[in-house]
Amino acid sequence: MFDTNVFGPLFVTQYFQTLLKSGGRVINISSSLGKISSQYSAYSPAYGISKTALNTVTLRLAHALKEKAVAVNSMCPGWVRTDMGGKNAPLPVEKGAETAVWLATEAPQELTGKFIKDKNEIEF
Ligand SMILES: NC(=O)c1ccc[n+]([C@@H]2O[C@H](COP(=O)([O-])OP(=O)(O)OC[C@H]3O[C@@H](n4cnc5c(N)ncnc54)[C@H](OP(=O)(O)O)[C@@H]3O)[C@@H](O)[C@H]2O)c1
Repeated sequence: MFDTNVFGPLFVTQYFQTLLKSGGRVINISSSLGKISSQYSAYSPAYGISKTALNTVTLRLAHALKEKAVAVNSMCPGWVRTDMGGKNAPLPVEKGAETAVWLATEAPQELTGKFIKDKNEIEF
């Protein structure tokens, strides 16, 4: 879980660091289950802890890349009808991707080190 959800995004960003220029954007796909307030629960512990860790990676990278004016944010897609989300999820894939696409294109460059859902900041 940590290899895929935490070390994967961290190492990919590190490997591509020299290619990240001013105006670059890194978007980590997290989950509301990674919120600190979601951890007082028996539900999906490994997944939740890994997404909390991913969010801290986002903060560390946002700080490290701020001088280069590269924005780094976490986002939650919501509950989406994918293989993982299952057929009962309320959101189509297009809706789940919307905030990530916004972060990659229209979001203000100054927006960095944040946790975003539905194009709005949410608490870590
Ligand atoms: N769906 C939701 O409701 C929901 C909610 C909150 C957050 N998210 C997050 O959204 C992201 C995308 O999820 P999804 O819903 O699109 O899930 P998905 O349909 O199950 O797709 C997951 C993708 O991750 C790839 N993958 C899994 N383990 C991997 C590994 N070890 N190495 C390389 N690739 C790996 C899978 O590749 P293969 O197809 O080759 O196996 C697949 O392409 C995830 O980070 C998930 O935690 C999803």
